[in-house]
Amino acid sequence: MTLQETHAVPSPQMPVSSGNPCPFLRALVAGGWLNDDVERLTKVRDTLLQASGQNEKGGKILVIAAIANGLSPAALLRNVREGLHLGMLRDGPLNKHGSGSRILDAHGQFQPEELQRLASFASTKRTLQGDSELGLSSHEVTAMMDANFERARAARRRIDRALMDGEWPVLLEVLGKDDADGARYLGVEDVRALFQDRRLPQRLAERLA
Ligand code: HEM
Repeated sequence: MTLQETHAVPSPQMPVSSGNPCPFLRALVAGGWLNDDVERLTKVRDTLLQASGQNEKGGKILVIAAIANGLSPAALLRNVREGLHLGMLRDGPLNKHGSGSRILDAHGQFQPEELQRLASFASTKRTLQGDSELGLSSHEVTAMMDANFERARAARRRIDRALMDGEWPVLLEVLGKDDADGARYLGVEDVRALFQDRRLPQRLAERLA
């Protein structure tokens, strides 16, 4: 196996609140692209679109960021007026409370055995450069999400499985790479760097530069 590329290491990293459970938003805060405390919805949208290299209008992102801290009229109004409170996402409706991968625990701490569990759903991929690395295809990502949902049977909400479809498949699209046959895969090392080190691959950081 070979490591395909370097990961951007912002130095020094900005501190990230333990109340932020989203690995992607955590990396954006660590790299200084988003504020750890509160960030205007349009800034969140523009930063996410820039990171993904997409030219969409981003209406969906605005809606998600508006509801992410609470569904009450007061909470919605506060997010529309002030912005997304990134350090308070654990208190919001998008937090699945253990139905996810559990690679970050409830205090934002990296759990290596949960990354190993994710890797157990992966297989060897042939890269465009002719090397190989461990990664998850779209099919393998789905199998992992199904298993996460099944594992949380005692405590899950029905909506949690639908929420996962807005997380891992989006990560596959944004952070993933094409293999030698043109199929998209999510590199396990990229997942590790994101969750453990809060680092994005160089190619993403360059889009944000
Ligand atoms: C405004 C935009 C976003 C908000 C408010 C948000 C919020 C959240 C929250 C609250 C969680 C925790 C869910 C849980 O584990 O129970 C989460 C998880 C996650 N998010 Fe985000 N997120 C956003 C954008 C993104 C984007 C753009 C990506 C991918 C590029 C992403 C990837 C993920 C992944 C993969 C997880 C799952 C973690 C796991 O299962 O361990 N998120 N997000």
